[in-house]
Amino acid sequence: MSIGLPIPWAKAEFWGNEEKYLVDALRSSWISGGAYVEKLEAACAARIKAPHAFAVSNGTAALNLAYLALDIQPGDEIIVPGFGFMAAANVALQLHAVPVFCDVDPDAWCMRASDVAPLITSRTRAIVAIHTYGNMCGVDELVALGTQHGVPVIEDAAEAFGSKMGDAAAGSRGLINTFSFHATKTITTGEGGLVTTNDDALASKIRLFRSHGLRRERHYWHEIPGNNFRLTNLQAAIGVAQIEHIDQIFARRGAVYEQYTRRLRNIPGLQLQRLTPGCSPVIWAVAVKLEPAHYEQGRDAVMQQMAQKGIETRPGFQAPSEMHYFAPTHLPVSEELGRSVISVPSYPSLSELEIDFICNELANLSTSS
Ligand SMILES: Cc1ncc(COP(=O)(O)O)c(C=O)c1O
Repeated sequence: MSIGLPIPWAKAEFWGNEEKYLVDALRSSWISGGAYVEKLEAACAARIKAPHAFAVSNGTAALNLAYLALDIQPGDEIIVPGFGFMAAANVALQLHAVPVFCDVDPDAWCMRASDVAPLITSRTRAIVAIHTYGNMCGVDELVALGTQHGVPVIEDAAEAFGSKMGDAAAGSRGLINTFSFHATKTITTGEGGLVTTNDDALASKIRLFRSHGLRRERHYWHEIPGNNFRLTNLQAAIGVAQIEHIDQIFARRGAVYEQYTRRLRNIPGLQLQRLTPGCSPVIWAVAVKLEPAHYEQGRDAVMQQMAQKGIETRPGFQAPSEMHYFAPTHLPVSEELGRSVISVPSYPSLSELEIDFICNELANLSTSS
């Protein structure tokens, strides 16, 4: 078997009935709402063990819905990690709330309750736990801390569909939980997302906010100033087909992660993301931190060198202090991770040969050998 270059960083993959269900949805003429949306919600609810699951247009809309349901107001503070995708912080700003950044664990790259505790004030209205790259935050500790202060936890499990902490699925312990089904994610609907909650009253609010505050029984009567965050039946059809093969997807992702871990842990100058104790992850993206002593050219140069070899990589998430529109912060760990982390292709169909090739190239770029 040969290696096909370039190797992309991500690849949307189809496992069985995606095309069939998509055509079925199209021919049914139910292209907005429809039976596939309900099927996708039921399948996700069963996997996550969530009494209420709402398919939405993307993971950012899912966070927006969570904030609306929690009645986040201008000036409210929302604690978010300094290392992670900035959707939760961006949506907070759009609602004129204040993202309060928490630095992350230098090894697990996720937020810890012990770092969140000193940031809680009388204005704190939510803690957003982002399960970065598929590793998970210590959710029990965060929920216990939140409960102590009357602050809800939102799990942003966009990158962690399928990960578990003990027996609890990522996105099952927060008061509200959000997921993304973007093209690169563990399961995809192209663009798409999900919101779950165990709370009946919040579920009613989420249902209304998702669809302009409308109830089916009364046309054009808006109960609340909602939005349109709905997923289409066409997209949901793809998601239903993906869920049918979820165990196979998890197994392939697991094998890719396992092979990378075996190889990368022996390369000097690379630090793998350490799993939070108790976490059985479905890794979305395999990432390593480059130690400057071994990669003197710096992370961005390494990315370019990898690209020259035909391997697409991505940098770690940039810290909020790098972006002009966030208030100044000092987050030493997140800033360092933003400068030195690189993530490598991690999609399920990567072959052993390709993974070996990627690991060898990364090792060859070390300046200390
Ligand atoms: C942690 C996290 N939260 C939220 C999102 C936003 O999801 P979407 O791109 O579906 O809007 C992403 C997506 O990339 C993400 O990684």
